[in-house]
Amino acid sequence: MLSKHESGQRHRNAMRAGTWLSIGAVLLLSGCANAPSVLQPHGPAAARLAELWWVLLSVAAIVFVIVMGLLAYALLRRRPGPSRLGNGQVFIITGGAVVPAIILVGVMIYTVGVQRAISVPQQPPVLTIEVVGHQWWWEVFYPDQSFATANEMHIPVGQPVLIKLTTADVIHSFWAPELQAKMDLLPGQTNTTWIQANTPGIYRVECAEYCGVQHAHMSMMIVAEAEEQLAAWLTHQQQDAPIVTDPVLLQGQQVFMGSACVYCHTIRGTTASGQLGPDLTHLGSRLTIGAGILPNTRGHLAGWVINAQAMKPGNRMPPMYLDASSLHTMLAYLESLE
Ligand code: CUA
Repeated sequence: MLSKHESGQRHRNAMRAGTWLSIGAVLLLSGCANAPSVLQPHGPAAARLAELWWVLLSVAAIVFVIVMGLLAYALLRRRPGPSRLGNGQVFIITGGAVVPAIILVGVMIYTVGVQRAISVPQQPPVLTIEVVGHQWWWEVFYPDQSFATANEMHIPVGQPVLIKLTTADVIHSFWAPELQAKMDLLPGQTNTTWIQANTPGIYRVECAEYCGVQHAHMSMMIVAEAEEQLAAWLTHQQQDAPIVTDPVLLQGQQVFMGSACVYCHTIRGTTASGQLGPDLTHLGSRLTIGAGILPNTRGHLAGWVINAQAMKPGNRMPPMYLDASSLHTMLAYLESLE
């Protein structure tokens, strides 16, 4: 019998284990709440991949149940004397080689078939987008419209889009779980993939190849929208930044142009023409900053400008030393770049 002390201790341990399990479950589930899932496909390629996943899971589940059933049978019905299955050779060859070979070859043929089917779109792509991976952001270039943006791409809903991928530094991987399989970005090489979203919305891209300390914070937004909206967006993005006349914005522009910002960033239509960081010509129109890590609000932008290292340690943007008034006017200017 357990002493009162022991039984109390066990109860407490059980309670503690229960608490940790609940915390773990909450963290796990809350993490999943807004995460893009391959099991909720929004495009034809992702739909085939989800189907592949369910077929493979079903086959594996059936095999698992049969093998466990046979194991249970062997354990429970073990009797002395010769087995009813003889010396078991036929069973071992059939169950251990022939049946697995049939299943594995079948699964392989099906998998290769799905891979081939999703490698090219059914109709020719209507738009080409070039993506260059950087530690840790995405450069997005529309070659036919000749403009660059960053960490956000807009595509027409229901139509295939060709994506050309390369990298400026290390290996990255372009992964929009709801739209398409992963594709690596390799140095000195251009890989191509395509995406299609069947429903309007915002689809997240994650870097799926470990690329350094901020690999986990290398995201991008794909905005799938109606053709008219896309056409308006493309036309707007092609334009240079507007000429500033408002005194506050003018002051902010002077602060920006007089700072180190211009060595890394481009604002088309101004003297800022740096190539190291994201093009800021239409920064104000973007959904996020810091490659998808934060919503594009003035508060986040202020924190980012003053000390991006506190928000995303290791990124290439150095801290800026600005007085309150300079910061205020520069933020107003950056926000005006819609
Ligand atoms: Cu880029 Cu991981």
